[in-house]
Amino acid sequence: MAHQPTTVHRRDYSAPDYLVDHVALHFDLHQEQTTVHARLELRRNDSDNAQPQPLRLNGIELELLGLALDGVPLTQEDYRLDAESLTIERVPSQCTLEVITRIRPQENMRLEGLYRSGAMFCTQCEAQGFRRITFFLDRPDVMARFTTTIEADRDRYPVLLSNGNQVAQGQAAGNRHWVRWEDPFPKPSYLFALVAGDLACHEDRHVTASGRTVRLRIFTERENLDKTEHAMACLQAAMRWDEATYDLECDLNDYMIVAVGDFNMGAMENKGLNIFNTQYILARPETATDSDYEDILAVVGHEYFHNWTGNRVTLRDWFQLSLKEGLTVFREQQFTAAMGAAAVKRIQEVRGLRAAQFPEDAGPMAHSVRPDKYVEINNFYTATVYMKGAEVIRMYHSLLGQEGFCQGLALYLQRHDGQAVTCRDFLMAMAEANGIDLEQFGLWYSQAGTPCLEVHDEYEPGSGRYTLHIRQHTPATPGQPHKQPLHIPVIVGLLNAEGHDLPLRLENETQAITTGSRVLELRHERETFRFLDIPQRPIPSLLRGFSAPVKLDYAYTEDQLAFLFGHDSDEFNRWEAGQQLSARILLRWVNEGRGSIPERFRTAFRRTLCDTETDPALLAEALALPSENFLAEQMKVIDVEGIHIAREAMRCNLAEHLSEELRARYALCVEQGNKTENTAAAAGYRRLKNAVLGYLATLQNSTELQRCLDQYATADNMTDALAALALLVDSNASEAEASLADFYRRWQHEPLVVDKWLRVQALSSRSDTLARVIQLTAHPAFDIRNPNKVRSLLGAFAQGNPACFHDVSGAGYTFLADRVLELDGINPQVAARLVTPLSRWGRHDPRRSSCMHQQLERIYAQEGLSKDVYEIVARSLDRAVE
Ligand code: TRP
Ligand code: ZN
Repeated sequence: MAHQPTTVHRRDYSAPDYLVDHVALHFDLHQEQTTVHARLELRRNDSDNAQPQPLRLNGIELELLGLALDGVPLTQEDYRLDAESLTIERVPSQCTLEVITRIRPQENMRLEGLYRSGAMFCTQCEAQGFRRITFFLDRPDVMARFTTTIEADRDRYPVLLSNGNQVAQGQAAGNRHWVRWEDPFPKPSYLFALVAGDLACHEDRHVTASGRTVRLRIFTERENLDKTEHAMACLQAAMRWDEATYDLECDLNDYMIVAVGDFNMGAMENKGLNIFNTQYILARPETATDSDYEDILAVVGHEYFHNWTGNRVTLRDWFQLSLKEGLTVFREQQFTAAMGAAAVKRIQEVRGLRAAQFPEDAGPMAHSVRPDKYVEINNFYTATVYMKGAEVIRMYHSLLGQEGFCQGLALYLQRHDGQAVTCRDFLMAMAEANGIDLEQFGLWYSQAGTPCLEVHDEYEPGSGRYTLHIRQHTPATPGQPHKQPLHIPVIVGLLNAEGHDLPLRLENETQAITTGSRVLELRHERETFRFLDIPQRPIPSLLRGFSAPVKLDYAYTEDQLAFLFGHDSDEFNRWEAGQQLSARILLRWVNEGRGSIPERFRTAFRRTLCDTETDPALLAEALALPSENFLAEQMKVIDVEGIHIAREAMRCNLAEHLSEELRARYALCVEQGNKTENTAAAAGYRRLKNAVLGYLATLQNSTELQRCLDQYATADNMTDALAALALLVDSNASEAEASLADFYRRWQHEPLVVDKWLRVQALSSRSDTLARVIQLTAHPAFDIRNPNKVRSLLGAFAQGNPACFHDVSGAGYTFLADRVLELDGINPQVAARLVTPLSRWGRHDPRRSSCMHQQLERIYAQEGLSKDVYEIVARSLDRAVE
């Protein structure tokens, strides 16, 4: 690096010197360039301050065409311009600044600011994209009212959208037209949005609890209009749910969503004009899987919920990102749980947390939910901020109950409506609304690392006393060598020999006997909880519902795990016991050589397979073995091959021993699926059926191969077709090629389906996968400029296919580093995400570890690296980033 990018520290926050009361924007969109006129009404923030500060506006890669202060044009002596800002030394305490800039959205490959996606123009301003549109105080604590006028060619861009309400429109010379929008709510610049295109629209409405009608519109390219039905239903459901649960109504007359094919993330909550990755809007049964449908529900809900948690109450600075993201992910989780199988949802959330957040917390990028510093804020849209942030909100909920939590949220929103605030403000509202002290709880925001709970127990048969001893400790993380004890809610139950929950009465409690679960609150490093009147030694069911984002260490016997797997009343913990049991066997095989499957495990597996009472979707989760990445997390030095081989061997072994039961269950799922009209139930049968098909496919015989081919050929939905295709591609069957070719021929004009085609090949465990992925980067279906393509092919390969990515030759690492360097010149944000698998080099055997390290060094040495990639690589190499 020629010179190191600078680090921004949370402790350096200071209030803005100037505020913007109103901003009038005028966009003149042309094919080659766009001119932006901005009129800012500015006011000094602290006008008592004797020493007025210069006015410094953010702006990057802008061509300045004109500048006027209170109507007087400024000359070059009046201001200073550098690569990232425009400074005017002296301005009146109240003034109007007019700025004219020229930008080139058609050349914008970063997909930040104003850019083109297909035939349309769109924007992405979070976190700091607005400064690529015009000079501005581009920080979330500057909230302005926006008026936006867009002018463009009438034929190419008949639809012109921005935030708020459309207030005027007209014709202009040269076959052009314009539309003016006014957003009545003051907002930070990161919530600004603009869209221009030839878009079709699906319109519906929502009548709020108080009787107002909100017009709902989803805009897409014309050919996708038939894929917006589900998203619209999700939006309406989200609006109803937020009214019923939190008494929160949509505050707009118009709510718009636009789906775009080129997008760095999932979706964006711009006020009144959400912009979505097409992936999270478009769905038809033939093109989208059941899990796509579920993702759409979650993301549509998520962006809508931001309207209160993020937009009405926003962030003081970007270090507070989890204030809106953790809270909104939690609200989204509550919503999706209410819409479907809550236990299955919870299992998937925890799977996701363990797959993405735990490794982050244990690696060189470990940071707290409210980070202390960053080089590039885009690198902090992380699993920690989103997922662990949501777990922190869930812990408030566990401590306060739904009612107390609602009261706290109501106080927070009422107290801070229209303000830009901090995580601490949220904590204070929760504490005050409930009259409790949450000071220690606040450590969850500042302390990184995954805490570990060590649990021991004792039972005294004579007195009926049962004691739990819990010790917490959090391992050191970069920059935080010493950790303090946290305030942790641990939900527990005690099972008797019949598998029933015992009444729970703690010492010192006179009666208050409750059955089922109760919340134990840890505050000290060591805590002891003594239960009375326990008639026999119980089996503890700990951390029910995964009540805290921690690792649990209790010396269960395999018999106890099998018992919990069969009997725990907490559905999450039933699943968890199964996972712990299979993980233990698998890790033993990896470390000590393969043995046989213990009878108790096979019996438990058979019982699950033949269970016709339980929700099939839940059964599918229970039948899934822990992922290779989850198993890797449990090892000091990761044995990539050993894990893959052991896991495949166990799948095979189970299939061989239970082939009859598997075939019967497959048939039953087909039959039940055909009978049901209910789409959620049908999805559950499909999930179980495809989990079963996965086991059968490991048998590698002609009957099972034919079963996959049949399912692929006859499927009337993408879920079944793709599941079968994935199994064919994974097998060594020669028929796989024909199926892949057929799939591509059929769907080559549907970009989201082509993404699936790429992903299925990237995830194959066949030994030629790397060669195939390399080939695919040259295929017309792949385009490195499109983030969905990058994630489907390169992201899936590097993160979802450990056995192939970590090929001992190191070829996977070189390939990834090459692509990171190529992409860094195009889209640094996505490049930085792609590099993270290499950052885990420290966990691998010396040979792999040194190959990974070498590739990081190679990237680090590159001239002109973006600060996005630089930050991740420098931290991974433990180079000082100060
Ligand atoms: N705020 C968005 C959300 O709902 C995240 C997001 C969308 C984003 N696009 C982005 C973040 C681009 C950074 C850069 O979670
Ligand atoms: Zn969000």
